[in-house]
Amino acid sequence: MTSPATPLTQDQMKAQVGFAALDYVSRGEIVGVGTGSTVNKFIDALATIKDEIKGAVSSSVASSERLRAAGIPVFDSNEVEELSVYIDGADEIDHRGHMIKGGGAALTREKIVAAQSRRFVCIADASKLVTTLGDFPLPVEVIPMAARRIIRQFARLGGEAQVREKDGLPLVTDNGQHIIDVSGLKIIDPRAFEVEVSQWPGVVTVGVFAYQKADVCLLGTPSGVEVLQFD
Ligand code: 5RP
Repeated sequence: MTSPATPLTQDQMKAQVGFAALDYVSRGEIVGVGTGSTVNKFIDALATIKDEIKGAVSSSVASSERLRAAGIPVFDSNEVEELSVYIDGADEIDHRGHMIKGGGAALTREKIVAAQSRRFVCIADASKLVTTLGDFPLPVEVIPMAARRIIRQFARLGGEAQVREKDGLPLVTDNGQHIIDVSGLKIIDPRAFEVEVSQWPGVVTVGVFAYQKADVCLLGTPSGVEVLQFD
């Protein structure tokens, strides 16, 4: 009797979607690269075809360092007008491709690189797929002097926000700003929510990606990669 195939671990699922994303990379071009543990698997996979691409535009110092260590040239986003594809992870993704991002504090640069890309391919394990965004505490990058007022504004929406810390001090992003994480939100209309919060003075970037949503999601499941296409 043969034993059933062992379900993949979360790490293996991340590696699978990272590898599967190579199918979406246009050879001879510059690719947009996100941030996080799933993207790290993608960078490892990208290293195997590094001679077939021109390089990458990266969304964080951490990803840039990993790309360079893998021998992949990193371009500044200002050097490139448009990218054909941006590949990045998500903290949550809904069935329309809207996402919460910023668990790795890179949301501002992620939104910028996503905005200059024709296609967003999200790579995520199955735990990230949700019906409604908001169980994952929403990251918001803020100008430090506005943090307390923005926290009070979220309280009026029913959210409980706190400044993200590292080693007992406010975490400082690659852009020199702070992150607040907001729990207790149910984001029913991600586009309206993104527009509203983006206008609050002192908000640099809200971690709802509704305007820069995913076109495709490669979802790692215990039995393999599922491809979700969004309109
Ligand atoms: C970083 C992000 C990441 O894409 C998100 O946090 C997912 O990370 P991981 O792949 O490690 O689960 O938005 O700012």
